[in-house]
Amino acid sequence: MGSFSLLFFTVFLSLVAASKLYNNGVSAEESADTGLMMNYYTDSCPQAEDVIREQVKLLYKRHKNTAFSWLRNIFHDCAVQSCDASLLLDSTRRSLSEKETDRSFGLRNFRYLDTIKEAVERECPGVVSCADILVLSARDGIVALGGPYIPLKTGRRDGRRSRAEVLEEYLPDHNESISGVLAKFEAIGIDTPGVVALLGAHSVGRTHCVKLVHRLYPEVDPALNPDHVEHMLHKCPDPIPNPKAVQYVRNDRGTPMILDNNYYRNVMEGKGLLQVDHQLYEDKRTRFFVKKMAKSQDYFFKEFARAITILSENNPLTGTKGEIRAVCNVANKHHL
Ligand code: HEM
Ligand SMILES: *[C@@H]1O[C@H](CO)[C@@H](O)[C@H](O)[C@H]1NC(C)=O
Repeated sequence: MGSFSLLFFTVFLSLVAASKLYNNGVSAEESADTGLMMNYYTDSCPQAEDVIREQVKLLYKRHKNTAFSWLRNIFHDCAVQSCDASLLLDSTRRSLSEKETDRSFGLRNFRYLDTIKEAVERECPGVVSCADILVLSARDGIVALGGPYIPLKTGRRDGRRSRAEVLEEYLPDHNESISGVLAKFEAIGIDTPGVVALLGAHSVGRTHCVKLVHRLYPEVDPALNPDHVEHMLHKCPDPIPNPKAVQYVRNDRGTPMILDNNYYRNVMEGKGLLQVDHQLYEDKRTRFFVKKMAKSQDYFFKEFARAITILSENNPLTGTKGEIRAVCNVANKHHL
């Protein structure tokens, strides 16, 4: 009996000790969670940001449209619950990728993001997250397009699963009301001028006819500028475009390759392609900021930089959460 209780006591003691050790282990790791910070990789991979910048530049030289993709990616990844590179995951037998949903229509150049990741892995294997590469490539892509340099923090880790099933709660559709758009962005801390500035990203790139034909057929949306209608009809001659055909209209015919405030002048002239673009000038809440950004590129850049920063810091995985993916299109457990 005595030896039994001694045994019991010993087991109890060692359990207490073990759990203390375990807790210490966890709290040590938790105290290492510094969250996002500037130059997170200074010690662990000092070349990381330079390698990414170089790759973005090289890719931009070969394929200018890669920069559009880096800019669009930060919206599609970060606005959906977390900047965790969930956007980059491929479909698995069990889950649909975000890339394959309707809201992601037209996203491109993912293989070149893999090119950047491979270059970073060659320097420092297993250190730099895909989420940080996604965010930093957006930062450097914005510069390539003539936009502002926006200092952004790093230290994000990669999510393990697709967020496809909640995507539509967070990403507005092309024809969403302004109230809906403002509410979605407000939920992640981006105010009205921030939203108006972010939509200025539609100063570059393209929109496929499938997203536009409802403004042209069966009858033309009277809000559209007649000169622009002519161009749009020329580019989108079929009421039901073949979704596989590469038929599209450039978002900003004036300066299609440059991130500038010409977008706002387009919107004011009835040349905004998407219904959300056009609505920005119709709605009282956003109209004032459209006019102000049309007048001042500085003001546009200032608000754009502020909004991109907030977007880039949306609910990141840090510390011991998530993982550092080995390749950006597959979570580690599937890859290894
Ligand atoms: C109300 C919010 C938004 C809606 C409904 C929306 C919708 C769209 C649609 C339908 C396209 C055309 C895709 C295609 O046909 O290929 C597009 C293109 C694009 N969007 Fe947005 N967008 C929104 C906000 C944003 C934001 C916040 C950014 C970045 C900060 C962004 C960046 C881009 C870029 C760069 C393109 C051109 C992509 C390319 O040419 O590859 N968009 N967007
Ligand atoms: C928006 O457009 C989609 C097609 O892209 C359509 O299914 C949906 O009904 C439209 N929504 C509104 C509010 O008009």
